[in-house]
Amino acid sequence: MDSMHEFGLPELAAGFELQRELRSPRRWLVTGSAGFIGSHLLQALLQAGHEVVSLDNFATGHRSNLDEVRAAVGEQAWSRHRFIEGDIVDAATCAAACVGVDIVLHQAALGSVPRSLEDPLRTHAVNATGFLNMLVGARDAGCARFVFAASSSTYGDHPGLPKVEERIGNPLSPYAVTKYLDELYAGVFTRSYAMQTVGLRYFNVFGQRQDPRGAYAAVIPNWAHRIVSGQACVINGDGQTTRDFCYVANVVQANLRAALVPASGPRHEIFNIAYGEQTTLNQLHELLQHDLRELLPDLVLHPAVYRDFRRGDVRHSLADIDKARRLLGYQPTHSVRQGLREAMGWYLGSTASV
Ligand SMILES: NC(=O)c1ccc[n+]([C@@H]2O[C@H](COP(=O)([O-])OP(=O)(O)OC[C@H]3O[C@@H](n4cnc5c(N)ncnc54)[C@H](O)[C@@H]3O)[C@@H](O)[C@H]2O)c1
Repeated sequence: MDSMHEFGLPELAAGFELQRELRSPRRWLVTGSAGFIGSHLLQALLQAGHEVVSLDNFATGHRSNLDEVRAAVGEQAWSRHRFIEGDIVDAATCAAACVGVDIVLHQAALGSVPRSLEDPLRTHAVNATGFLNMLVGARDAGCARFVFAASSSTYGDHPGLPKVEERIGNPLSPYAVTKYLDELYAGVFTRSYAMQTVGLRYFNVFGQRQDPRGAYAAVIPNWAHRIVSGQACVINGDGQTTRDFCYVANVVQANLRAALVPASGPRHEIFNIAYGEQTTLNQLHELLQHDLRELLPDLVLHPAVYRDFRRGDVRHSLADIDKARRLLGYQPTHSVRQGLREAMGWYLGSTASV
């Protein structure tokens, strides 16, 4: 891992006040804004008074997510947003989106390990070629900083726990390859073109607007939907698989900090973004059933159904978030339990519309 430059400095992070820094007006580009994480970033930036261009092709995102952001921020804030419907696989679209932008928050990608095993070409086109198109667009437009969604899948088969940024193993899926490639490209763009690039390795993010639909749905919205509609949840493996589930508010904070922490000159850094706690799938199942039953006392609960381990999945995941704490001043505000409680109402509402 490239540690040629330290991104931010502990003393800067200590004196760095996110709320104060957020008051300076800037122009942002959020890609993947109709998706789960991108829509939260868009909302936070509009609520903080910024101008935002956003880009999405609705491959996995939804217009309803943009509608929810609009309703949450109000018409005045919404008027500071310009939406581009476009595909990041098209270089000209990326170039046009970057013009006049100070900071890029690049989220657009095809997520899901199983999807990438079924269609590695499409995953590569979007996550690798599309990513490179965005880097080139940001370089040519002179964007001050390029922050992007990296992934904990980059740790692959490395057995060490907790995961520290500089020790990675072999990737276990085409998705993981593309996400690591993105980090490599970002590092090369920093060295070759003096850009500031920051990769945030997200660990299993969850929250409102994470799609409960389809074969590639993430575990939390998928299970919430199944529990509310009276179905059993399916656990891949023995349920002792662990994840470091991270509520989306923590991820928004990490992006804003990575975008705004003072740094000068060419910089490239990678940070783990998680809560920093392990939860087994069995524990998660219990938590969800418990919280949903509190909201719906008549709910009939079914035991989970166990099936084989899934190809490409890592067995255990837990992040060391010390680097983000030290250099970005990152302080996750929501535990898994607090995040689930906040998101529960949305899961109930979305289940009604699935
Ligand atoms: N959710 C997680 O747990 C998690 C974990 C690690 C990394 N990530 C990364 O975070 C980012 C956001 O993920 P998410 O969970 O919000 O997923 P999401 O599917 O909800 O959002 C991705 C968005 O990108 C858009 N998109 C896809 N292909 C595109 C293309 N070719 N051109 C333009 N837009 C395109 C989709 O329509 C969607 O709105 C992704 O880069 C993902 O790999 C997510």
